[in-house]
Amino acid sequence: METTLIILKPDAVQRGLVGSVVSRFEQKGLQLVGMKLMKISAELAAEHYKDHAGKGFYAGLVRFMTSEPVVVMALRGVGAITVCRNLMGATFGSKAAAGTIRGDFGISNSFNLVHGSDSPEAAARELSLFFKSGEVLDYARASEAWVYDTSGGKAE
Ligand code: RTP
Ligand code: MG
Repeated sequence: METTLIILKPDAVQRGLVGSVVSRFEQKGLQLVGMKLMKISAELAAEHYKDHAGKGFYAGLVRFMTSEPVVVMALRGVGAITVCRNLMGATFGSKAAAGTIRGDFGISNSFNLVHGSDSPEAAARELSLFFKSGEVLDYARASEAWVYDTSGGKAE
């Protein structure tokens, strides 16, 4: 099982798309293990996007991400990092495939609705930036045995 950080960006919150976007992840079978509405500080945005510092889009990205509240989520599942990135679609809304979150709900390249960690190392780093100890919960899901085939002793 992997746990990944998802951020519903300010455009998703302002456009009233939180429920629709969360539904995509829930319907896929990912387990929601952490969630909160928050405003990202300039310091947190800089730390979160430090790999992009110096790029042409960086200042605008930090301004956007700190402009209005976001919803941050921790989602868990087998291969959750890649599963979530595939659900999100390509970075630019204008290019993202139909059927993906970015492809179905947006057309802007900068306001692209959702962030997802892109590697296990990034997920661990980002989860610890946005969630304090105890805010990501371990709990058994009643539907687990129908989301995965667990008959062989592990989730398949
Ligand atoms: P994210 O980190 O938000 O999940 O998005 P991503 O991996 O698909 O894309 P990434 O390359 O990490 O870029 C981070 C965010 O910066 C904005 N961006 N703008 N105008 C541009 O060329 C450009 N490139 C990236 C997007 O909001 C992107 O999500
Ligand atoms: Mg990225």
